[in-house]
Amino acid sequence: MSDSYKIKHHGVEECSNTSDNSAFSAVLDARFSRRSVLQAGGAAGVAGLSAGLLPALVQAAPLSAKPAVLGFAPVPFSVEDRVVVPQGYAADVLYAWGDPVGIKGMSPAFKADASNSAAEQAVQAGMHHDGMAYFGLPQGTKTSKHGLLAINHEYTDDGLLHSDGMKSWDGDKVKKAQAANGVSVIEVEDAGKGRGWRVVRPSKYARRITASTPIAIGGPARGHTLMKTEADPLGVEILGTLNNCANGQTPWGTYLTCEENFDGYFVNDSGALSDNEKRYGIKNKDAGYKWAWEDFRFDLQLNPNEANRFGWVVEIDPFDPKSKPVKRTALGRFKHEGATVTIAPDGRAVVYMGDDQRFEYIYKFVSKNRYQPNNRKANSRLLDEGTLYVARFDADGAGQWLPLVHGQNGVDASRGFADQGEVVIKARMAADVVGATKMDRPEWIAINPKVAGEVYCTLTNNSERGGEGKPGVDAANPRADNKFGHIIRWHEAGGNAAANAFKWDIFALAGKPDAVKSEHKGALKGDIFGSADGLSFDQQGVLWVQTDVSTSTVNMKEYAGMGNNQMLAVIPETGEFRRFLTGPNGSEITGISFTPDNKTLFINIQHPGEPESERSDPAKPTAISSWPDGAAAGRPRSATVVIRKLDGGVIGS
Ligand code: FEO
Ligand code: CA
Ligand code: CA
Repeated sequence: MSDSYKIKHHGVEECSNTSDNSAFSAVLDARFSRRSVLQAGGAAGVAGLSAGLLPALVQAAPLSAKPAVLGFAPVPFSVEDRVVVPQGYAADVLYAWGDPVGIKGMSPAFKADASNSAAEQAVQAGMHHDGMAYFGLPQGTKTSKHGLLAINHEYTDDGLLHSDGMKSWDGDKVKKAQAANGVSVIEVEDAGKGRGWRVVRPSKYARRITASTPIAIGGPARGHTLMKTEADPLGVEILGTLNNCANGQTPWGTYLTCEENFDGYFVNDSGALSDNEKRYGIKNKDAGYKWAWEDFRFDLQLNPNEANRFGWVVEIDPFDPKSKPVKRTALGRFKHEGATVTIAPDGRAVVYMGDDQRFEYIYKFVSKNRYQPNNRKANSRLLDEGTLYVARFDADGAGQWLPLVHGQNGVDASRGFADQGEVVIKARMAADVVGATKMDRPEWIAINPKVAGEVYCTLTNNSERGGEGKPGVDAANPRADNKFGHIIRWHEAGGNAAANAFKWDIFALAGKPDAVKSEHKGALKGDIFGSADGLSFDQQGVLWVQTDVSTSTVNMKEYAGMGNNQMLAVIPETGEFRRFLTGPNGSEITGISFTPDNKTLFINIQHPGEPESERSDPAKPTAISSWPDGAAAGRPRSATVVIRKLDGGVIGS
């Protein structure tokens, strides 16, 4: 396979942020005192630092009773081609790539040789399941036995998607790949009597949203000049959503799906990339998807604004399959990981978001209006108006949310921003202007249900930190060649999610204690890991962490002996990690969603069998994994997995 066809969906191939923003030097000046505390103290130092920095907030009274207790025995590292869970637990496959979504009269079976057509793929599970959320049925209830799952399908491995992979190429293959992107909404129920969960088929809720579904534009970029195309001269409607990574869930019952590495689908080979294109990683060739060859929408010479229409958070009403999804442009355009929602004490909605690329930023959006629990219509507009902020982490443990508002802090016409629409379209560039802190690949963000205003974010890794010509270490990103990543935590001032200031500390430095380089040793209590990505609290206040060590590194190089990707639990009060699950060969673990009773955990196994190139050889599709179908499998398949305790108890306890 030639290099030009090698996918790099993770957005790590290089850094798109060459800005010389002003926060950096201030952080650099004071970083050493703080860093020495971390290094000298190891794990104890990390815990001690948080107590010292944040006494009032860390010790705030929990909202619910005593701390949770982990009751399972940890599982070891594994190179087994299956999902391994602790004794007393079951892990069952629920919904794999190619399974019918359940639309009445449209349930084509998955063909193991990947010969399903594009039209069939459009009513089947897409590829590469990622973010996911559970919604109880009936709508608005806390039912734990019957609900909807909204599931992202991040990208495609076209070596598996088509019978002969990419050997031949035509418009039908592009259509099939576009149909395998997007979102599934499925109806699921616990069949009872220990029989486990099943997908309800047919279901009136069943829906696929793909890279060609019409999606409205909401917020400041709606109707903007930079959003207009020949096919959409008003700039109000976009065909499709793609590369949906992590997700969010609103209290008003909608699903947020987040467009990450959209740049990889576009080509501009005119020889002249705009600053906007460069800042978002667009190049003169795509990431190997070859859509632009057949669908000229992805050729930026022909459709220069089309790329401005991706990189957004999309809001979907899973309860109404006829509803039109909306790209919420007020939340900014970048390589979105997830969108974690909470309600501030005064009722405003707050959305935390990571931009997952090396040296990119952490953002939050605060709505202008207040959430109204019983006013669905008003809530449906909440994410269109408000203030987008980006985070600056100062060396003394303080932090600021810097507004990205046209006319403030240099974000104005003199720096190339005509209006707020242009600010959100070029959110990365606006964040450069205000001096945000360049982070080590911000991934998922989780809000502690027990401590008001306490928020955690995985910074998965950044091997370029401290490299030649690249930003050096700073207090919030304290390790050069950060191959294992860390988890940062902040406390909003006054426990108020809408606050402008916060205090922060480093919750965990991932690593391997016997590593050769000191930067790789980490500071962890309990079971070790690296490259944390998925992150979510359960209903008990347990924090769950999922890893995405890339297939070019997993169980080798610095990660030798650490086995397949994994999922761990940690109680924030103790900081001790315990390994709960390991995944099949060549997979990452993602998509955490618990039922309200915390007795069912849904996760996604993404890209089992993925080779280093991130594109499989169709002649040997099961060379690395045949999960979940086993020896008779035609192809490995990404899938949603249901995890239950055999005694029917609370997961993790
Ligand atoms: Fe799609 Fe940042 O993982
Ligand atoms: Ca991810
Ligand atoms: Ca990832």
